[in-house]
Order: sequence, then C-alpha cells, then structure tokens
Amino acid sequence: MFVSGSRIEVDSLSSAIICSSATLVEGGLGVRFTIRQGDQTLPAFAVRFAGCARAYINRCSHMGLQLDIKPASFFDNDKQYIICATHGARYDPVDGACRVGPCHSTGLLALAVTETDGYVLLTSDRYQLVSTEEFEE
Ligand code: FES
Repeated sequence: MFVSGSRIEVDSLSSAIICSSATLVEGGLGVRFTIRQGDQTLPAFAVRFAGCARAYINRCSHMGLQLDIKPASFFDNDKQYIICATHGARYDPVDGACRVGPCHSTGLLALAVTETDGYVLLTSDRYQLVSTEEFEE
C-alpha cells in the first residue's frame, strides 16, 4: 500500500480517503463528502455504527432531500437510527434500510467503504471522491 496525495493504493484496488478512522466516533457526527459518477455529482456521508464505518448517498428516499439539517448530524437522539431531519424517516445504520417514517420502505443507497491503516476509504469503483467536509460538535 502507498499513499499519494489523498489517494491510497490498496492491493490492486484504487481507494480514496474519506477521513481518518479517528474522525468517525460511534454515534457522533459524520463526515460529508461528494462523489461523482459520470457527469453526476452526489452528496454522501460516512458515520460509525456498531464499530464499523458506514457510508451512504445523502438522499432521503422520501423527497430526495439531504438527511442532515445540522451539518453532519445524522443520528437520532438515541443514536440507533440515521434520521432525516426534515420529516423524521429513520434508516438502519447497518444497511440503510427504511425502518420508520415516510421512506416508502426504500432504503439509503450504501457505498462500499473499508478501513485500512487508520483511514476510512471509499472502495467503490463506480464513484470518484470529489471532496470531503468535516465538522466539529
Ligand atoms: S425528506 Fe426525509 S423524511 Fe421527508
């Protein structure tokens, strides 16, 4: 593995750094980032839940809005669900499945991530990482 700018080569897979592993605290703020697929630019986010980094497209299945009104705040008060701040749809942080609210049984679109050498990496070859945003509580 080698680090080159903000990109890391992991075996034969080219992965992009979303953030350091330490940035994602269980139940804490997430990291917002932007990805590109072809000519489409999409908002996304990463959080930590049950010890693992998870990442999703930041688009509620109800009306397509971004989930966080307060930037990078994705969890409900109990830190059990990812919540859409607009109308309260709740998603399972493990797989993005809709659990409660007006999400029409449609979940969040998950992005492939892994953690290596203290970094959270986007590993999907369908998307390019464009930029990241970190916030403090
Ligand atoms: S836009 Fe997310 S619950 Fe309505």
